[in-house]
This record gives sequence, C-alpha cells and structure tokens, in this order.
Amino acid sequence: MPTIEHISAMEILDSRGRPTVSAACRLSDGAEASASVPSGASTGAAEALELRDGDMNRYGGLGCRKAVGNVNETIARAVIGRQFSDQSSLDHFLIDLDGTPNKSKLGANAVLATSIAFARASARSRGVPLYRHFADMIGQPLRTLPRLTINLFSGGKHAGGQVPIQDVLLVPASAATIDEALACVYACYQSAAKLCQRKYSSRALKADEGGLAPPFPDINAMFDDAVESIRAAGYEPGRDLALAVDVASSHFFDGGYRLEDHRILEPSRMIATLAAWTRQWPIVSIEDGLAEDDWANWPELRRAIGDRCLVLGDDFLCTNPQRIRRAIEANAANALLLKVNQIGTLTEAAEALNLARSARWHVTVSARSGETEDNWLADLAVGWAGDQIKVGSIAQSERLAKYNRLLQIEAETRMPVATWPG
Ligand code: PGA
Ligand code: ZN
Repeated sequence: MPTIEHISAMEILDSRGRPTVSAACRLSDGAEASASVPSGASTGAAEALELRDGDMNRYGGLGCRKAVGNVNETIARAVIGRQFSDQSSLDHFLIDLDGTPNKSKLGANAVLATSIAFARASARSRGVPLYRHFADMIGQPLRTLPRLTINLFSGGKHAGGQVPIQDVLLVPASAATIDEALACVYACYQSAAKLCQRKYSSRALKADEGGLAPPFPDINAMFDDAVESIRAAGYEPGRDLALAVDVASSHFFDGGYRLEDHRILEPSRMIATLAAWTRQWPIVSIEDGLAEDDWANWPELRRAIGDRCLVLGDDFLCTNPQRIRRAIEANAANALLLKVNQIGTLTEAAEALNLARSARWHVTVSARSGETEDNWLADLAVGWAGDQIKVGSIAQSERLAKYNRLLQIEAETRMPVATWPG
C-alpha cells in the first residue's frame, strides 16, 4: 500500500449556496482524487456533528473554515507519510484522532471528506472503478443497480411547510433499467408540473431537492395529485409506478403528531393514519413515519404496515450502528436509510449496512438536501448493493450528477436493477 503523501481541504458551496468541505488526497504512487461532502437541513438529533464556524458575519454562521483548517492542519499532520492498509485503518485512525462520540472535535464534515477522498484515491491507485472499490471494501460481489426513488412533491422543511410531510417520491417499479426508470419518471414529473400550473396556478416552484412544491390544501391532495400525474403520463399507479413517502415526522412532533394545524395525533392515531395511507394509495415505503425518539411506538408501526411496506428509518436510525442494533432488537423497522455523513466515515456506514443486512432489512442509500456536483453516492449505492437510491428529483445538476453516473455504470456493467417492490 502506498502512503498518504498529501491531504488538503477547501471550502466550496453546496446546492443551497451554503459552505461545505471538499478534500483532496494524493498517495505516494501518484494516485490522487478529491471528494466533497453533502449537508442536511432536516437533520436527526443523533447525527454526527457538522462543524460550522458560527461567525454570524459570514454565511450566517455556516462557514466551514474551521473544518477545512482541521483537515489542513490536524488531520494532514497526523496522516501524511503514514501507510494505511485499507479504508478501515484510515477511518479508525481518524475516529481516534477526533476522540469524541459524535466527531465534534474535528467535525464530521472534515473527517468524511478525508475518508472519501482517500477511498477515491485508493480506487485510482488500484486501477478499479470506485463502485468496485466500494464493493471490495465490504467484501461483496457487485450484484445489482439500486432501484430509483425520485422526489415528485415536497413540503415540510424542504419547501415552504405548506404541508407538514416532506416528500412524496415516485418508485418506477416495473422499469427494468435505470435508463427506462428515468424516462418514465421524467414523463410523470412533466405531467405533475402541468397539473401544478392548472390546479394551483403555480409555476414549477422547486423545493431543496428539486421536488415540485405547490400550495396543496392538504396531504390527501398531495397523494391524489401524485397518482393523477402518473395516470396523466400514461402509466398505471401501483403497477408501473408506486409511491414512497418521507414523512420526516420528527419535525412536526410536538408531544404528538401535528399532521394538521388544528389537531395533534396520539402515536396510535398517527400509526392508523399511516396505515390508512398505504391502503388508499400505492405506497410501498414510509420513511420516518414516527419521530426519532418515539422508540415505544416504532414496533407497532412495523406490525401495522411492515408486511406490505418499508418501515424506513432516517432521523430515527441516523446510520448509527448503536441505534440500528437497538431497532433490530425491538423489531422497530425493516429498512435503513443510509446517509454516510450522519455517521462520518465510510467504515462506520459499512457497519450500519452490515447490521441492516444481517436483519434482512432493505437499504436505501440517500443523498442530502444540500448536495454538491460530486457523484460518489452513485458508486456507493452500486458497490454496496443498495436496494434503493434516493437522490432527490429529476432536476438540478447536483441530483442529475448522480443519475448520470448511474447511467454510466449501467452502460459499463449491464447489471440488472434490484427487484422491488413485489
Ligand atoms: P436532509 O433531508 O438531507 O435535509 O436531512 C433528507 C431526508 O430527510 O431524507
Ligand atoms: Zn428523511
């Protein structure tokens, strides 16, 4: 294994125009690469700490100069000239160097940018595509391409909060390839944009991840409009395209679930409401149906809908092995939303993945609402055989960079898309 010859970072801007971290790594055999990290807005309380400068005179406190400085000074001093036999040895070194449970000393943004830049440089050093390097990292063969789940409509924290729930996504269930799936979703997105214009006189206002965000009168209208858009594009809801929902319910939990302004639901009523949605609309996945700390009620949600629907944990699990272990023991979910920056290194994310797999859970590999043009997530979803990938809408270059990379990988490997649902 070559040694690390150079590591450095700089501040760049994400898709919301907020600062984030990009790191560059060069190995002693000359292989070099850079990588940038995303950032969430609808974050879980248990996420690793994204280090921000807090200087209110610059980017409203969101600057990343401290995190960049930590790569350029503390991390660079510690790793340059050292040999790391694999990703896990570098990541464990970084975890120890940070020494906190949530990476609050160096910042998860600093640590993850380093971790991914090293992975990409290592793939180049080995002369293999990044997706293959990711597969080798977890000792698994390449199997399938992930099935797409693509944002159609948004509310909550990613839009104006016109409805409390965050996203309704399209799942091109019958498409046999990524190429076919994208064409099918494009048609639905166009018919949805027309519907927004006609029903809401709304120009196609877009949420953070490119979803359409008209002033829906209520959640039912959001689902009805999704189904209508699928039909208007000439597809059969439930057969050609199913729906997935990111309820993101931690963000409207207030002792109970404030699904409507005038009414707060008890957890049991919330579960009954979610179950009713799965009967009324072709919903195959519900993410964060309950709040992140509502441990007592997640098992009941899984019992109520888990036989026909993914009970997917995002803020609930935070890609955190400890939380995932607890959720497996409690039978509290059946699917993991995997966001590497929630935990801060590839190695810990791989541990999260392996735990989910050991419980036979589905895994959805996910982007963040603040993304960059970097496309490593597509390679990760393929290399780690994610059942699904969630990148946002079929809009905006930071999203399309990932879809375009999937198209490239599909053309290169001709692998099938994971079968789901049904
Ligand atoms: P975030 O949202 O990146 O803003 O946290 C994405 C999601 O909730 O899935
Ligand atoms: Zn989510």
